[in-house]
Amino acid sequence: MDKLTVVLLFGGRSSEHSISCATAGGVLAALDPERYTVIPVGITRDGAYVLEDNDPAKFVLNAQALPVVADNGTRVRWPQSASSRELTVIDTSGERSLGSVDLIFPILHGPFGEDGTIQGMLDLLDLPYVGSGVLASALGMDKHFAKTVFQQAALPVAPWRTLTADDWAQAPGMGYAALEQLGLPAFVKPARAGSSVGVSRVGTPDQLAEAMAVGLAEDNKVLIESGLVGRELEVAVLQGRPGESTRASVAGEVVVTGRDFYDFAAKYLDAPGVELVCPAPLSAAELTEVQRLAIAAFEAIGGAGLARVDFFLTATGWVINEINTMPGFTSISMFPTCWLASGYTYPELIDELISVAIAHARHGS
Ligand SMILES: Nc1ncnc2c1ncn2[C@@H]1O[C@H](COP(=O)(O)OP(=O)(O)O)[C@@H](O)[C@H]1O
Ligand SMILES: [Mg+2]
Repeated sequence: MDKLTVVLLFGGRSSEHSISCATAGGVLAALDPERYTVIPVGITRDGAYVLEDNDPAKFVLNAQALPVVADNGTRVRWPQSASSRELTVIDTSGERSLGSVDLIFPILHGPFGEDGTIQGMLDLLDLPYVGSGVLASALGMDKHFAKTVFQQAALPVAPWRTLTADDWAQAPGMGYAALEQLGLPAFVKPARAGSSVGVSRVGTPDQLAEAMAVGLAEDNKVLIESGLVGRELEVAVLQGRPGESTRASVAGEVVVTGRDFYDFAAKYLDAPGVELVCPAPLSAAELTEVQRLAIAAFEAIGGAGLARVDFFLTATGWVINEINTMPGFTSISMFPTCWLASGYTYPELIDELISVAIAHARHGS
């Protein structure tokens, strides 16, 4: 394969800005400079595109100082029409070319990155990219619509009600009625967020108001969902090459012991009380079933590239919690860990994501 020029796009306007930076650090470190020319493009919290340093160490995640894309004054400019793939950068010395780009690797989580918006912009520019397109990204981002599609595809989901900020302001009784129907405990979560930001466990009705306020601070639409009791397991999905079938990894388990649930601190700040176990102990039949469901969920939303599908294993069987079309994949994250246990090293996984995207772009699929 000829050397490919890949734009690594990270940071962004969502609350998961720093997680995206941390993943970008991992990917930067894994991309073989013999095979790829990498252009790291950071998106500041304000949405400016800046040329970043190709320095993985800059983006290490730790609780004291979360990595960010700072505005360094440069501006990366996208091609001026769909017939060009040339990127330029404007800095103190003027505007210069960054060369012609083969592929964009948008490692962005949350709104304005994982939700179809950046994918739409890249489609307008005719730039191929890693991961799901506009519709699948938008569906995966919105827990209400993803669950609606899963339900339509006869996939098991937890019962839920969706309330808008207006519903809650004008008729809070709707929320309390939903809680009564769904039972306690319940989970309140923003429809479009991630990393457990804005998610609360509601154990008694008097905790609903606070939970709604926390959820509505992230989005103007929240889900109230029946609390499930069971194990939490996740399966990583990779799209096949053109004409080949979707692949599912072994399952990883999030073992929560000392905490209420798998919250932000546990996910990213190494807070105690949560352990990731991969491969998770499952019977062959359980694994086959969860892999089938993971692939079905990916295909139900029309996913491309990659996804992580999250489940609960309850006393009555598997329930899909959510699909993430751009899962975190710092080297310790569940997505690469699941693939490591299924035969791909971290750099091989990154290569595969790039190869699949290029193959589909060339194939026109
Ligand atoms: N219905 C539920 N029952 C039990 N636990 C839940 C439920 N919904 C969410 N949780 C807990 O909250 C965490 C975050 O919720 P999730 O829906 O996965 O949102 P996010 O997109 O922020 O990851 C889950 O990993 C799980 O620990
Ligand atoms: Mg989750």
